[in-house]
Amino acid sequence: MFEKPPIYNALVQHKKKNPVSFHVPGHKMGQGFNSLGSKYYKNILEIDMTEITGLDNLHQAEEIILEAQQEAANLYHAEQTFFLVNGTTVGNLALILTVCQPGDRIIVQRNVHKSVINGIILAHAEPIYINPDIIDDLEVSACVKTSTVEAALKKYPDAKAVFLMNPNYYGLSKDLTEIIALTHRYQIPLLVDEAHGAHFGLHPAFPKSAIQLGADAVVQSTHKTLSAMTMGSLLHVHSNYLDISRLKVFLSMLQSSSPSYPIMASLDLTVNWLKREGEQVWNHVLESIDWFYEKAKHLKHIKVNYVLPEEYQHDPLKIVIQHEGLSGYRLQELLEKENIYLELADMYNCLAVASIGTMPEDLEKLLAALKRIDKVEYSTVEMRSTPRSLFEQDYDASDSNSSVSLGNVLYQNKKRLPIREAIGYFSAEMVIPYPPGVPMIQLGERITKEMVNYLIYLKEQGAKFTGINDTSFQSILVTHIED
Ligand SMILES: Cc1ncc(COP(=O)(O)O)c(C=O)c1O
Repeated sequence: MFEKPPIYNALVQHKKKNPVSFHVPGHKMGQGFNSLGSKYYKNILEIDMTEITGLDNLHQAEEIILEAQQEAANLYHAEQTFFLVNGTTVGNLALILTVCQPGDRIIVQRNVHKSVINGIILAHAEPIYINPDIIDDLEVSACVKTSTVEAALKKYPDAKAVFLMNPNYYGLSKDLTEIIALTHRYQIPLLVDEAHGAHFGLHPAFPKSAIQLGADAVVQSTHKTLSAMTMGSLLHVHSNYLDISRLKVFLSMLQSSSPSYPIMASLDLTVNWLKREGEQVWNHVLESIDWFYEKAKHLKHIKVNYVLPEEYQHDPLKIVIQHEGLSGYRLQELLEKENIYLELADMYNCLAVASIGTMPEDLEKLLAALKRIDKVEYSTVEMRSTPRSLFEQDYDASDSNSSVSLGNVLYQNKKRLPIREAIGYFSAEMVIPYPPGVPMIQLGERITKEMVNYLIYLKEQGAKFTGINDTSFQSILVTHIED
């Protein structure tokens, strides 16, 4: 027997009482709202509530929110689960602040999401970056090797935690069992950004979630591949090495004191739905995804299946599409002309993200569009492999010759310099070329001639840069610090 989703149910029961509202929010269940928006907002405003009697409080969950969080913990086999209303971003920030005091070291995968770097800045901690693998067939960065984590732990046994991103944007992941055991040997927590793996562990076709494998804390964007509203995420914990009461303090500090009930209820409904019907729903979605992969095998110029290193798993929901004669960007444009919008494109790949909401007809339309594109002959784009050497160099953030602390970058005066003149300065911006999506220059890192030459080469090849303001890579912001 499945229970009703506690938060959603309480909101509906409250609305049914036809209550008189003399509390916030000011739209009073939609009574005062611009009529232009009524069509789409009307229903949702009726359950856009606040912490009144019977509706609990996210920051001190004791009733319906606690119950809903416990349901989620139970689904994912976590000890405790926290609802997040500011995405995985806030989970990452809170975790880093929980484990690091100013000056503490944290071992962190170099291609993590910017929220992890921002967490390190806020904590005034010191990142020890470790390089991820670059996957040949896709030319994208992915996960780290156990031996890489081991080397970093040996060199920095005082590190307070290891922070990894698994899976990557393209759905590539590794089984983290070994890294978890290794980290625990050093008696520190393994923290995992599983933003793209909210569905992991929920069906045999998906890899296991890191929380099932024994990671200490795992953050998932439930809004990415499941059915929560945007900003709805889950933070799962199960740890002997994390101070949970401190984590709660940081979550409270970083999240609004008026968290959105529609977002929380959407998390609640997602968990409830998965518990009741998850298996059937996934079977249905996966059936059409398998159909798509099978049909796509017959495309002449377009590829959706790749050869991955043995230790990698690929999430079937992340459909990576390559055309032998078109860049990923161009293929994306052609698909948009067909009214098909993708998650992202890079120089070589397009990424179509399927989810619990993907319908067979969506995949039929994608396949039909790809077939039309496949009929046209385009001259072949040469797959150039990324020179690996610069991405394999160890970056030692504690070496004051090669970097300044992230906090320093924030508070120092800065100036913008033409790119070649910036050599030798400490960067006040990140430069992340896609592909392969690994920051080539990190915040606070000293800019070297090799980096600049390589980035200019990548630019000429058509790579796009993120992180930096001047995306044409003519200039870069640097700190004023003198040697
Ligand atoms: C790897 C990774 N981590 C964290 C985030 C932030 O997640 P959210 O949008 O749920 O805050 C993202 C967002 O794209 C991401 O890709």
